[in-house]
Amino acid sequence: CGIVGYIGKRDVAPLLLEGLQRLEYRGYDSAGIAIQSKSSGLKTAKAKGRVRELESRIPKRFAGTCGIAHTRWATHGAPNDVNAHPHLDPAEKVAVVHNGIIDNADDLRAKLGAEGITLVSDTDTEVLAHLIGRAQEETLEARVREALRHIEGTYGIAVLHADFPDRIVVARNGSPVVLGIGEHEMFVASDVAALVSHTRQVVTLNDGEMATIKADDYRTYTTEGSRTSTSPETVEWAAESYDMGGHDTYMHKEIAEQADAVDRVLRGRIDDRFATVHLGGLNLDAREARGVRRVKILGCGSAYHAGMIGAQLIEELARIPADAEPASEFRYRNAVVDPDTLYIAVSQSGETYDTLAAVQELKRKGARVLGVVNVVGSAIARETDGGVYVHAGPEVCVVSTKCFTNTAVAFALLALHLGRIRDLSVADGKRIIEGLRKLPEQISGILQDEAAIEKLAADYAQAKSMMFVGRVRGYPVAREASLKLKEVSYIHAEAYPASELKHGPLALIEPAVPTVAIIPDDELLDKNRATLEEIKARSGTILAVAHSEQEKADHTIVVPRNEPELDPILMGIPLQLLAYHTALALDRDIDKPRNLAKSVTVE
Ligand code: G6P
Repeated sequence: CGIVGYIGKRDVAPLLLEGLQRLEYRGYDSAGIAIQSKSSGLKTAKAKGRVRELESRIPKRFAGTCGIAHTRWATHGAPNDVNAHPHLDPAEKVAVVHNGIIDNADDLRAKLGAEGITLVSDTDTEVLAHLIGRAQEETLEARVREALRHIEGTYGIAVLHADFPDRIVVARNGSPVVLGIGEHEMFVASDVAALVSHTRQVVTLNDGEMATIKADDYRTYTTEGSRTSTSPETVEWAAESYDMGGHDTYMHKEIAEQADAVDRVLRGRIDDRFATVHLGGLNLDAREARGVRRVKILGCGSAYHAGMIGAQLIEELARIPADAEPASEFRYRNAVVDPDTLYIAVSQSGETYDTLAAVQELKRKGARVLGVVNVVGSAIARETDGGVYVHAGPEVCVVSTKCFTNTAVAFALLALHLGRIRDLSVADGKRIIEGLRKLPEQISGILQDEAAIEKLAADYAQAKSMMFVGRVRGYPVAREASLKLKEVSYIHAEAYPASELKHGPLALIEPAVPTVAIIPDDELLDKNRATLEEIKARSGTILAVAHSEQEKADHTIVVPRNEPELDPILMGIPLQLLAYHTALALDRDIDKPRNLAKSVTVE
């Protein structure tokens, strides 16, 4: 979900709508807005669906210079007008927008019900509006604090009160809240994307922190009320990086940006003299790195898949046993936390709740946790002991492309670094560095063949289901490509290690179920060719992604060779285009696939 708020001198509704548009990728099933109107208390407008629906519902007389707004990704209650935020108390004096989940909402709803209060929505958030509305404390800050005392769960909230029209009160516990500091105006948002076209001076709240923003000043304090000291930081990403820049979708723009993005993650980090890399923020000295006995990588969705590539790179280059696991599973299974294991949390947003919770659990048990994160200063970046920034720039499309690629490259850097202080040779170090340097140009080359992939996509868009297979280095590529296709085209897709095909999934192979096979020219080439034979013998259609034409395949996308360890990074790229063009052929909503959200900041 996304939150945006403004207080200042300008007309607030257009500003908030623009902010919501920029946040829409965080959730888009309903949206709403509340303002302090000049004449008569709070005014609200809400609508199921996209921000443009809300825009058409805003009444003519909706003037004010202070307001809050929300775009929703439903957790409690169906997406409809009533469940859309902001939520009000019965007197319509309090308006609340909320990201997160209130775990004890059912109890609180029952309690409020017993007191004779009628709740109009099915949401957990509405209870907060009622609790603030009935609090008797003198200040709005104290009333919000009092209400939060009853809340168990996670929240990022922004609150308006008709009796305190000069301020917005916000609080954070587990869901991001940033303040944007302007000249005689202040902003608040769940994500800097909503702020950067107005100010690049931001204050990021910590968990357990609250803030009051007024047109000319802001102050932060803990939920217990003691002041905290914060000074604004400058956001690195410019407003233009959030624009579509001539492309029809963010997905297309972000795929196209990958050569530049990879260039950025490499920049300033390669040390030719010692055939290694410098990772300034790693915070792991050579002695500590040599003491690492295992590496465990944690992330969700595409971040998890990038972590799978990362684990292979670390095993291959640094010879440390490594594996990746979904952070969402790890945090619930009471895993053995081992002092000799290096844990690495991977996340584009740095806010994914499951990944953050895994980090917090690990820290509680004394583990060393690094982050491989895109958003600078995000919660995971701050909670980890150090790490590698991915430098992909803002990623807006819900499905990850450039950040996935950059994360895999960041892992190659980390693996090379760990390898060179353990037992990777100078020669191999040089070889990998050369390979890394070649990546941007090779990516540009792959992207130039877009027209051919577009043609293929027209055929594959007819598939009822698709299989993606790869062996060892090819397997994470298959996993990510399958995820990409299903997320954006809604075609059912499964990814399997190629060797597992014969143990079950082969039963699914038929002409209407094509297989995409990842076939790098490595030591497993013959085995992979044998897999193609197995599929062909069952009259399956095959699209191979390989380093040379594959005889058995119906189509081959030929990608340039790099070093075997780095080949997976390149082999995924044409399949991003395949997913994109398949979705386009099926007329899908590419940047905002149904039921999904970019950052899942709830459990
Ligand atoms: C959501 C998105 C995925 C993303 C995952 C992890 O599920 O839809 O595209 O890979 O979250 O996000 P993160 O920000 O932690 O990388």
